Amino acid sequence: MLKRTHTCGVLRKAEVGKEAILTGWVASRRDHGGLVFIDLRDRYGLTQVVFNPALGKGLHEKAGELRAEFVVAVRGEVRERPPGTVNPRLPTGEIELYARELDILNRSEMLPFEVEEGANVSLEHRLRYRYLDLRRPTMQNHLVFRHRLCQLIRQYLDSQGFIEVETPFLTKSTPEGARDYLVPSRMSPGAFYALPQSPQLFKQILMVAGLDRYFQIVRCFRDEDLRATRQPEFTQLDMEMSFVEEEDVMSIIEGFMVEVFEKLLGKKVSTPFPRLPYSRSMELYGSDAPDIRFGLTIKEITDLARGSEFRIFKETVERNGLVRGLNAQGCGAFSRKEIEELTGFVGQHGAKGLAWFKVEEGGLASPITKFFPQGLQVQIRERMEARPGDLLLFVADREKIVSQSLSQLRLNLAKRLNLIKGEEYCFTWVTDFPLLEFDETLGRYISIHHPFTSPKFEDIPHLEERPREVRARAYDIVLNGVELGGGSIRIHDQELQQRIFRLLGMDDETARKRFGFLLEAFKYGAPPHGGIALGLDRLTAMLLGLEDIREVIAFPKTQKASCLMTEAPSEVDEQQLKELGIKLL
Ligand code: AMO
Ligand code: AMP
Repeated sequence: MLKRTHTCGVLRKAEVGKEAILTGWVASRRDHGGLVFIDLRDRYGLTQVVFNPALGKGLHEKAGELRAEFVVAVRGEVRERPPGTVNPRLPTGEIELYARELDILNRSEMLPFEVEEGANVSLEHRLRYRYLDLRRPTMQNHLVFRHRLCQLIRQYLDSQGFIEVETPFLTKSTPEGARDYLVPSRMSPGAFYALPQSPQLFKQILMVAGLDRYFQIVRCFRDEDLRATRQPEFTQLDMEMSFVEEEDVMSIIEGFMVEVFEKLLGKKVSTPFPRLPYSRSMELYGSDAPDIRFGLTIKEITDLARGSEFRIFKETVERNGLVRGLNAQGCGAFSRKEIEELTGFVGQHGAKGLAWFKVEEGGLASPITKFFPQGLQVQIRERMEARPGDLLLFVADREKIVSQSLSQLRLNLAKRLNLIKGEEYCFTWVTDFPLLEFDETLGRYISIHHPFTSPKFEDIPHLEERPREVRARAYDIVLNGVELGGGSIRIHDQELQQRIFRLLGMDDETARKRFGFLLEAFKYGAPPHGGIALGLDRLTAMLLGLEDIREVIAFPKTQKASCLMTEAPSEVDEQQLKELGIKLL
């Protein structure tokens, strides 16, 4: 077999006259007046190879057999391309390999789609034949970039004294708010392992064990509804530190981001990142993952709405609802149709309607202006910092709907109005989350982060009396409106942990069954500790300017959590089920 001397991405003018052996895949073949040209591709690049009939019938005929994606080795001479045939877009574009010997190492059947960059291929096809999809340079670059990021993570965290420790996949349930993937045990019929939703409990126990600073690039498994930024198995950069407070964890992450942006993108990010309390984030942006690359903040007019004659506003306020809105600056010329579109859009996010006013020199113009006395109109204008030519948009509803719909409307308007400059990265920490929220369907409190998050010290005394008001020592890191990661300072006291379990409606016996090992570990000298986990798929995608995390995962799953290539999940043998003591319904 011919052994390669170079890859397909390295030959330049300096090598002209030398002999080289290249291996790779045939990206394309063209015949020109007897000459056969192929573009030979590997992970490193593309090189043009020429077969001249003058060099003998055998070689030329063999070259004629070549088809897309055949695997070949070619020995030849590096030559300068004739004038006029140089390809400036290709790093190897000044040279070509003048073939003397060809080895066809493998053939390819007719392809289900063209491997060519930019070819229009359905996502189903790409996932079904992922090995072909991954041959495309863009996809290879994504994986190479991800690899670089992982190298950098290891190097940076090592330099900060973190050590990488692996934790089990076959384990007990770790609640992070999704359903568990269960694995039946053959040795203990009727018993199940749960795949971890995160290594949360193990990393805390590593702190009890005195490891001080831990990290892991780790797969997490969550059976939940999938979207562009969610996969059933995804990767976290998971970290935990002992004897720390919020600021210590945040500054490690800030240092890490500075390093990542500088080394991988050649960009500067300034630290510290702004800190935004959760309540403020909800007021201003209607979301706990705000995109702060642009203003367009939400403003409250509930107090003013009370004084109007507009039935919808009045009734909402009477029912303890809210009226909030946005000032779409300079959008006063929007047509009825455009406003209807926006109304339909907020409708998709739960709002029952969208009240609007065009701001004119003389006052507010809208079919509902008549319900707003002149004085009130002036107050609304002031509150909304409105100027002639602006468009004011309001939603009246309960807080959840108002926030949800206005946060989406804010993003929609930013796109329409081109408020987001490309290539801008705006980080923010969202802090001071509530510890708990009341789940109407379950009829009990649930943790906003997870049950191991510490309440703020000063809120501990009124945990049981006023659970809604208790704030958590939790923080999320948000980049351009995407939650990249979240973490908290943990509870390290057995009794406090038990009080939280009780608040979550878990009696002591249930808590012991599920988390007894943690409570026990806390009895033997648990240090104060805290940590964070970043979504590595999300971080990689964002650094590459991509929205769908499947573009940076080698073998991702579909919306239905299936793998189109292996056809997992699939049925299993009767015998396997029998061994596991499982009977299907
Ligand atoms: P959390 O549940 O917030 O925290 O997860 C941390 C980060 O992981 C990413 N992420 C996901 N990425 C892709 N697909 C998913 N299905 C998915 N779910 C979450 C997000 C998220 O911010 N144990 C805690 C961390 C801690 O407290 O230290 C945890 O898992 O980017
Ligand atoms: P209607 O009285 O239903 O014709 O509505 C008059 C205007 O109020 C329309 O522009 C509706 O989109 C708007 N509207 C209806 N419900 C709401 C609501 N809950 N919040 C804000 N505007 C609303």
